[in-house]
Amino acid sequence: MFSFLNKDQATGEVTERQLDEQNIPAHIAIIMDGNGRWAQQRHLPRIAGHKQGMNTVKTVAKAASHLGVKVLTLYAFSTENWKRPSTEVNYLMKLPVDFFGTFVPDLVKNNIRVKVMGYTDQLPAATQKAVRDAIADTADCTGMVLNFALNYGGRAELVTATQQLAAQVQAGQLAPTDITADMLGQQLMTGDLAELADPDLLIRTSGEERLSNFMLWQVAYSEFVFMQEHWPDFGQATLEQAIYTYQQRHRRFGGLNPATDTTKN
Ligand code: FPP
Repeated sequence: MFSFLNKDQATGEVTERQLDEQNIPAHIAIIMDGNGRWAQQRHLPRIAGHKQGMNTVKTVAKAASHLGVKVLTLYAFSTENWKRPSTEVNYLMKLPVDFFGTFVPDLVKNNIRVKVMGYTDQLPAATQKAVRDAIADTADCTGMVLNFALNYGGRAELVTATQQLAAQVQAGQLAPTDITADMLGQQLMTGDLAELADPDLLIRTSGEERLSNFMLWQVAYSEFVFMQEHWPDFGQATLEQAIYTYQQRHRRFGGLNPATDTTKN
């Protein structure tokens, strides 16, 4: 059991709670929202929010790894984020360079392996190099996988996977009726994560309650937890709160929970 101080989102009441070590979500995915609003509230430029958000990534990666999370997927840049002003896009493209440039030794110390999913070939050369180096430098780490969604979009991912299966059909290697959900899942950018591909818990910060084209296939049975904190204010305590909320849920995966659901008609 891990003890932590839980702050009730509705009342603000703080109480000591226990996290069940046996029920830590193996895969947590986070939509890191609210950097801009955090900066705006402080009369700072939006990029100051992203910079602070990068520091939160460091804190949360270490906290998740210590709690025993196996995969932490973070939505860092979507295929739609290119629509933002070029100064902001350029800054967001530099963040991985700063992040990995300063944090790789810590990642190695914590046995955390870096993975990236997204259309990385469209990123600036320096960003691509930072990502490649971080993957290579942490390749021998056997602990948590820190998976950055970078130039990622759920619909584009599904289109690419469909194209790959269609090519196999066209080559005569596969009949359309032989395509299974598992086969499609393996073509996705999380295919290499095997049984850990689907998030158990999806967190979105900053009070918004939408998916924004994130892991559309993989979140089919994820538990969603929406939190009020802007991403730069997120940290170990808020992560523990989200996991506590997750542990109060009963996952049924379309079936019944024998402990709580009656099977009588
Ligand atoms: C959403 O907040 C956040 C982003 C689009 C960028 C997220 C990036 C980081 C947290 C840093 C990532 C770090 C690395 C290492 C790649 P928003 O700007 O949409 O906030 P708003 O809704 O308040 O405007």
